Amino acid sequence: AGAALLDARRRPLRDLRISVTDRCNFRCTYCMPREVFNAHHEFMPHGALLSFEEITRVARVAAQLGVQKIRLTGGEPLLRKSLEALVEMLARLSTPQGRPLEVTLTTNGTLLAKKAQALKDAGLSRVTVSLDALDDHMFERMSDSQVSVKRVLEGIDVAARVGLPVKVNMVVRKGLNDGQILPMARHFRHSGHILRFIEFMDVGSTNGWNLREVLTGAEILQRIAAEFPLEPVQAGYRGEVANRWRYADDGGEIGLITSMSQPFCGDCTRARLSPEGKLFLCLFASQGHDLRALLRGGAGDGEIAARLAGIWSARDDRYSELRGRATQAEEKIEMSYIGG
Ligand code: GTP
Ligand code: 5AD
Ligand code: SF4
Ligand code: SF4
Repeated sequence: AGAALLDARRRPLRDLRISVTDRCNFRCTYCMPREVFNAHHEFMPHGALLSFEEITRVARVAAQLGVQKIRLTGGEPLLRKSLEALVEMLARLSTPQGRPLEVTLTTNGTLLAKKAQALKDAGLSRVTVSLDALDDHMFERMSDSQVSVKRVLEGIDVAARVGLPVKVNMVVRKGLNDGQILPMARHFRHSGHILRFIEFMDVGSTNGWNLREVLTGAEILQRIAAEFPLEPVQAGYRGEVANRWRYADDGGEIGLITSMSQPFCGDCTRARLSPEGKLFLCLFASQGHDLRALLRGGAGDGEIAARLAGIWSARDDRYSELRGRATQAEEKIEMSYIGG
């Protein structure tokens, strides 16, 4: 391998987040509000989606350019048929140094009890489950679904039982589910799972985002620390998204994802691949770079690598740091399409 591939702000390419479907069985109000994502909404036709072979090819080339971690997202990735087959294909890939890629998954957990064993057997490294409330009524309001909290908790349990390390993501909307912060913290203390609180972000154009609904990581931390003493934990790797804390009594770890109050673009090493093969360089980008035409037009791996390297070297994105300045004009990409 040659010199490390860096973007225009000297950030390496390390993580590839792959969205495998734009569909979801939830209608979280902050992500896929039912008024927009209803019977009239056109989801992507199956033929438009990258096949598992095409996805794996992009991942293999990306690994040659520095990618070490793959995260499968959606929509809800477990709605894609036989996702474990894709996990198996990706888990066989390795870095130029011969280290296997880490393959992870972000899911809403509804299909996890059924799928966890197959995913583990296929080589999945770990799993992150979204859960915004412990109370069924609040959960229903957040996810706009009839699924019970119990079903998601079962998914988490089965995943842990088959040997998958688990993180739990809670999006916090001030004035809505912030009363669930402490119940969630109490529930997941001593569970072995890492609970992470996410500041409500202004992704997409349909979620009615409002600054008044952002509870900052610092405020969230204060509320928890008032009940349970906390100590800071060093970041696990450069560019880790969550600020980590541990309970002083060894009750485990929590994380705060503060993309609103403390942007982390300076260390952002993530690229995102959409279901139909567009590469996005930022969660807030309005345009992607089409790779599917290249994949389906008979390009060799060398050509794909050159294209990826060209796209990454020109990357200058740092939306969260510029937010609020004159960057608001263009339509942003939806979270359910690009997977967060
Ligand atoms: P690990 O550190 O590997 O566990 O995963 P992660 O935190 O990178 O991934 P996850 O899918 O759990 O993301 C957690 C939250 O952080 C989600 O709300 C993401 O949208 C948000 N997030 C992840 N990457 C970025 C990013 O590059 N920019 C911004 N603004 N938010 C991000
Ligand atoms: N702000 C913050 N987090 C969000 N997610 C989805 N939409 C938003 C938003 N507007 C979260 C999901 C999932 C993760 C990938 O992104 O709940 O946990
Ligand atoms: Fe589905 Fe996740 Fe979006 Fe909720 S946040 S609608 S679970 S993709
Ligand atoms: Fe990376 Fe864009 Fe998020 Fe900044 S806003 S951390 S550049 S994805």
